[in-house]
Amino acid sequence: MASDALAIWVVWLGIHEEMLKDKVRTMTYKNAMVNSPHIFRGKTVLDVGCGTGILSMFAVKAGAKHVVGIDMSNIIDQAQKIIEANGFKDTITLVKGKLEEAELPIQQFDIIVSEWMGYFLLYESMLDTVLLARDKYLAPGGKLFPDKATIYMAAIEDQEYKEEKINFWDNVYGFDYSCIKEVALREPLVDTVDMKAVEFDLQTVKKEDLSFTAPFRLQVSRDDYIHAFLAWFDINFSACHKPVGFSTGPHATYTHWKQTVFYTIDPISVVKGDLVEGVLSCAPNERNNRDLDIVIEYELNGEATGGTHGREAKDRIEYKMSVHPPYIVHPRLFASSLTLRLIGVDRA
Ligand SMILES: C[S@@+](CC[C@H](N)C(=O)[O-])C[C@H]1O[C@@H](n2cnc3c(N)ncnc32)[C@H](O)[C@@H]1O
Repeated sequence: MASDALAIWVVWLGIHEEMLKDKVRTMTYKNAMVNSPHIFRGKTVLDVGCGTGILSMFAVKAGAKHVVGIDMSNIIDQAQKIIEANGFKDTITLVKGKLEEAELPIQQFDIIVSEWMGYFLLYESMLDTVLLARDKYLAPGGKLFPDKATIYMAAIEDQEYKEEKINFWDNVYGFDYSCIKEVALREPLVDTVDMKAVEFDLQTVKKEDLSFTAPFRLQVSRDDYIHAFLAWFDINFSACHKPVGFSTGPHATYTHWKQTVFYTIDPISVVKGDLVEGVLSCAPNERNNRDLDIVIEYELNGEATGGTHGREAKDRIEYKMSVHPPYIVHPRLFASSLTLRLIGVDRA
């Protein structure tokens, strides 16, 4: 194997290893499927983005009559060996290619399974592809696994990490690197800190709904400073025997999606009972639709606490989730060793 191809392969293997080892993710899919044999028995299943074939094999274990798994990456060559090694050659058919362009051996499926979620739910996610699969291949009344996704927001106190990550650029071995601060600040960090901001029902959501503007309202539960907003998502399978799901939130067991941190330009001084009201907007970047443009507008409302009295705070901040210059750092690289102290912002 040429060294470039080997390097790509090592990266891919690492990604699939991380996903498979994410027990919260993989076991929730397993439980949703294997514990619903009466829903899968005798059914045809499409596995969109089958990777190593794990969900296809769960579907057969759950009783599916036939599963078609499709993936556009070379991982599917390994998936073919895996399904053969596990005795699923006759019940799982794998197709190599992009779902949008491929010819599938079955034209209508009873169930679609897919693990399509990205950071901040939608970053580099393949939800568009799943919606296309739904509209083209799902039989009337067919089921989606999973079928609900919800984005939540909170606010956090995070002075220590902000110092380390942002203010570091003020003085780098005695040199002024502060021009980098602007870039670092606008790159959302993905990591491990309530408020429901957006809910997607996969049975009905349309591609255009994935660009959204959602209001949020956070009630402060202790006197402190807010340094960042934090977002995460929950995933639910309500089409199975007993609804199951998982959360990627700070209160839940760690997942490889972690949480996404959006630093504010200035700390917000808050007292218990204040409200932080705002709007979260998200849309694919016009030039590169794999990138996400995210805007957070917020205003401190101190009505319930006797006014803000010099603590006025209001801003509109644009963030970009991107792997392209000038935002070259992939969020994944930021995603280690962050200890966050929850400011205890409650749902209002
Ligand atoms: C998050 S991984 C999930 C892999 C596997 N289902 C699992 O749960 O371990 C998503 C997979 O979808 C594939 N993929 C992404 N977009 C696709 C598309 N448009 N058509 C086919 N496969 C796609 C990727 O190559 C990747 O292997």
